[in-house]
Amino acid sequence: MAHVIIWGDPRSVLGGTHAGVIEVRSFAGLKTALDGRGAALVLAGLSELTAEQGAVEAWLKNGASKRVWLVAATDAGGDSDGLLERFPFLHDVVARPVSPVRLRLTLERAFETMNARGTLLQLQDAYERRGAELSVLNKIGMQLSAERDIDKLLDLILQKSREITGADAGSLYLVERTTEDGNGAVDRLRFKLAQNDTMPLTLAEKAMPLDKSSIAGYVAVTGETQNVQDAYQLPANSPFHISRTFDDVSGYRTKSLLVVPMRDHLDTVIGVVQLINKKRDRSAVLRVKALVDEQVIPFTSVDNELVESLTSQAAVAFENAALLKRMRDLFDDFVGAAVAAVEQRDPTTSGHSARVAILTVGLMEKIDQISSGPLASEKYTPDQVEEVRYAALLHDFGKVAVQERYLRKERKLYAGQLIALRQRFAYILRSLEADYLRARLHAHESGDASPERIAAIEADYHGKRVEAERVREVVEQANQPTVVEAERERLLASLPTRSFSMLEKDPEVEDQDGFPVEAWANGPWLSTKEVELLSIRKGSLSAGERKKIENHVTKTYEFLNKLPWTGELRRVPEIAWAHHEKLDGTGYPRGLKAAQIPRQSRMMTISDIYDALVAWDRPYKKSVSEEQARAILCEEAQHGKIDAELLQVFLEAEIYRLPEFRDRLQKRT
Ligand SMILES: [Fe+2]
Ligand SMILES: [Fe+2]
Repeated sequence: MAHVIIWGDPRSVLGGTHAGVIEVRSFAGLKTALDGRGAALVLAGLSELTAEQGAVEAWLKNGASKRVWLVAATDAGGDSDGLLERFPFLHDVVARPVSPVRLRLTLERAFETMNARGTLLQLQDAYERRGAELSVLNKIGMQLSAERDIDKLLDLILQKSREITGADAGSLYLVERTTEDGNGAVDRLRFKLAQNDTMPLTLAEKAMPLDKSSIAGYVAVTGETQNVQDAYQLPANSPFHISRTFDDVSGYRTKSLLVVPMRDHLDTVIGVVQLINKKRDRSAVLRVKALVDEQVIPFTSVDNELVESLTSQAAVAFENAALLKRMRDLFDDFVGAAVAAVEQRDPTTSGHSARVAILTVGLMEKIDQISSGPLASEKYTPDQVEEVRYAALLHDFGKVAVQERYLRKERKLYAGQLIALRQRFAYILRSLEADYLRARLHAHESGDASPERIAAIEADYHGKRVEAERVREVVEQANQPTVVEAERERLLASLPTRSFSMLEKDPEVEDQDGFPVEAWANGPWLSTKEVELLSIRKGSLSAGERKKIENHVTKTYEFLNKLPWTGELRRVPEIAWAHHEKLDGTGYPRGLKAAQIPRQSRMMTISDIYDALVAWDRPYKKSVSEEQARAILCEEAQHGKIDAELLQVFLEAEIYRLPEFRDRLQKRT
């Protein structure tokens, strides 16, 4: 019902009296009279309009014109156009006296116009709202597709679904389908997470059989969205029930529900979003049950539409993230298998790659958190951390291309060489014995077996035997991977010139290990090659053998470079390639200097050295204590070989105490 309000003296405004009109004398009175009423025709006096011109104009502009049709009255033959010019916000001017018929007509026209305008505004509103919804959905879609962490993605899906509908709480479920040969296993519905603005909570994941007994299960099985006004007042024939367990325990009151399926590109339901308690005021906290009745309203058909649209985008994002995760998992398994293959060839390094990865990633994450000092600007994305993890896991992969005899070499001579050498000395000793016996026999046969002669023969034999035994002992000792004393080294060096009479020369025997064929009839005690190996100054490897092992870095690079690392992991080969480089250029294989060595590689170098020191019982050297290992690292930093700033973080943050590292260190065999 439309109203007519006279603002001012009715006689001066209307020029007569009219029944059923409301009269007000002030602008404030006009506004009060309009309160709580629908649209109205306001007939205003000229003096009132003049007095409040500015305020009225602003008032109409700020929305009052949607429900007010403002008309001024002028004397018959008065200047209506002039009035409209003076008060441009007026909707119309009527001439006094205003007859009831004219008033009715004016009123009818006013409301027709206002209705038409209202409809237009509503359409405009709806159009704008839809535009805003689309833009929100678009933004959400972009956020969803950018999130690759599955748990964060699921959290985001639920959060955004709640945001666009004003839901106080919600839960998310995923459907776990068994494969066809699932050995009788049934499809399940896994409760993944819950959010609740009123009572922040963390509920543990759990799986239940996929059936229609619960509302989420019903939606997952049928694929039909369910909109429930009051969870406590389900119709008697409802195919599902809504558990009150959570409400009973927590004191929460679940009322309105909107439960929507998440469908993948094949239209299969892969999950369910369950929204709880749509609120009038989004900031309301529903701790008091009375507030639930006041605040909670049913979800609307627009909510249905919005959430369905959101969940379909969410399903695609989820599928993508899950696919990416499966690919990553597969790649991780492949990397694990590759690392196991390498470490099997070199048992002393068992578990080394995984431990180096833990230390390097731990160090990198610590550096990322630093907010002051020279490393404050070092920040890393999750992809960069992943890049370093792969580089660390695979840094020694090139060892697959290094012959096992070098990797496993425990002493200076290989086992076969040592056996040959022992047999040679046994033969030398036997030859000496044979020479001695032959000399004695000869003395007897020639009739000169005087005690002096026999004593001389025995002394000669004894001297030679003691010497040969001593040489044999020196050789055995020199074979240990320890430093050879200078005196022994001199003795070893003289042995290739010492000869013993051997078997007949055998033309079938090839020149082996520097043992010249022509010498077979009159062999040297040690070949030059044997002397070279036994004179190794440190460890068990000759310079040539060491080079062969060092070549693993280049092989690692060549191997990693063949893999098609995607953009964010593209530096894996380069980072691994530099793990044996030293800042002063004394490292290998390229002798890079500080500025050329990626910081990630320097982090790995510290972790690599530390693990190698504390974890490896080398054949020739026991692992060192953790304190010693740290002291060795400090020494390396002081000599400008490894990065002192990174080492400081490694030591101060006690990266080596990371539980995962310690566990693996203890478990090594
Ligand atoms: Fe290495
Ligand atoms: Fe290593």
